[in-house]
Amino acid sequence: MQFPEKGLAEADIWLEMEAARKGDVDWRGGRLPGFYVHFANDDVDRIGKMALEKFHATNALGLGAFPSIRKFESEVVDWALSLFHANGGAGSITSGGTESIFIAMKTAREWAKANRPEVTKPKMVISKSAHPAFDKAAKYLGLEVVRIEPRTDFKTDIDALVAAIDEQTIIMVGSAPQFTVGVFDQIDELAEIAASRNIWFHTDACVGGFLAPFAEQNGFPIPPWDFRVKGVKSISADLHKYGFTPKGASIVAFSDAEDSKYQVFDFDNWSRGRYLTHTFAGTRTGANIAASWAVMRFLGNEGYRKIAEQIWQVRDKLIKLIPEIDGLFIYGKPELTVMSYGSKTLDVSDIAAGLSSKGWYTVAPSPNPPAINLGILSLAFGEVVDTYLADLAEVVDELKSGDRSYDRSAIGSYGTQ
Ligand SMILES: Cc1ncc(COP(=O)(O)O)c(C=O)c1O
Repeated sequence: MQFPEKGLAEADIWLEMEAARKGDVDWRGGRLPGFYVHFANDDVDRIGKMALEKFHATNALGLGAFPSIRKFESEVVDWALSLFHANGGAGSITSGGTESIFIAMKTAREWAKANRPEVTKPKMVISKSAHPAFDKAAKYLGLEVVRIEPRTDFKTDIDALVAAIDEQTIIMVGSAPQFTVGVFDQIDELAEIAASRNIWFHTDACVGGFLAPFAEQNGFPIPPWDFRVKGVKSISADLHKYGFTPKGASIVAFSDAEDSKYQVFDFDNWSRGRYLTHTFAGTRTGANIAASWAVMRFLGNEGYRKIAEQIWQVRDKLIKLIPEIDGLFIYGKPELTVMSYGSKTLDVSDIAAGLSSKGWYTVAPSPNPPAINLGILSLAFGEVVDTYLADLAEVVDELKSGDRSYDRSAIGSYGTQ
């Protein structure tokens, strides 16, 4: 397609863009259970959008030019550190979970160069349930990754992991929780093992980082995961997930502010002089930082607790009612708000196709274990969860009776474009 010679009138721009999004999933209608969009309520959404608009032109590469963004970033980072029970510490806002993980792994690698100089082929040992962002970071950073099959309860197989550690191992990781089945790894045990061997330990709380603190305050038992656990050196926690900020915002946090010196890219061999950044990007939008500040300041601790309570009610309903549908069961014991369900008799791809045909954007089931992944990412889903459960029961009935088969090509995708 060639670049059009003439511009388009503003009204026509909006017409064409509205037409283009006719096929987009109805996320506000809650038709997207478990993926892509986190949503608390319309007020939170509006605050984030207004802040994006107000600060759209700012560039966080130039915090001297935009002291507003410096203030917003430093306050959001401080709030996160206090929620994660850091004693001091440091952190940055990145563009998302993948970048936070990348920066944490980069920091760990540089730390190891200084503290484990004998290592020549740095390696990380992680459970297979850890997010692919760790392998992505490892590819860029020249790290080897060893992935260990999880236990039958989906937590880390610590014995197998310890057996895989060798003198080149510089990084261990635990998820809080892991995406899909929704269990936490045994962060306290893993961090202790890491500390005793001078290995960097990272908690991936991209999912749980901004929900677990409030669920805990609400009295729900949350396994240990944050800086209260000795040996946890870094945490990734996504603002754009349960922080409910506009997409493009996550926190990478370090328990020891000293370690953040390994985080920076500091370059002094450029004709323009010194160039120093804390995250991967050069030019970095300040709008997402401003919007994160606005949403967090709007909600405060109290607002997040209230949302956590609302989400928990939906979670409890799903955990109770899904296994009441003939042959369905929930894998493991979800410890936060993401979960996965399977069927004793049916192929989960048929169930996914059935749900898709009823207008639920359902992504391809995960293969191991065969499961439909579900999560209360959005309270828009909470508004229609009863309809979801009724449709799910109907799909199962129809599949069991053999009355219907569903078109599998309607199943959606995740992470494969
Ligand atoms: C546990 C976990 N870690 C990391 C990520 C990566 O986050 P992002 O998609 O924001 O890069 C995700 C995304 O769902 C996740 O669930």
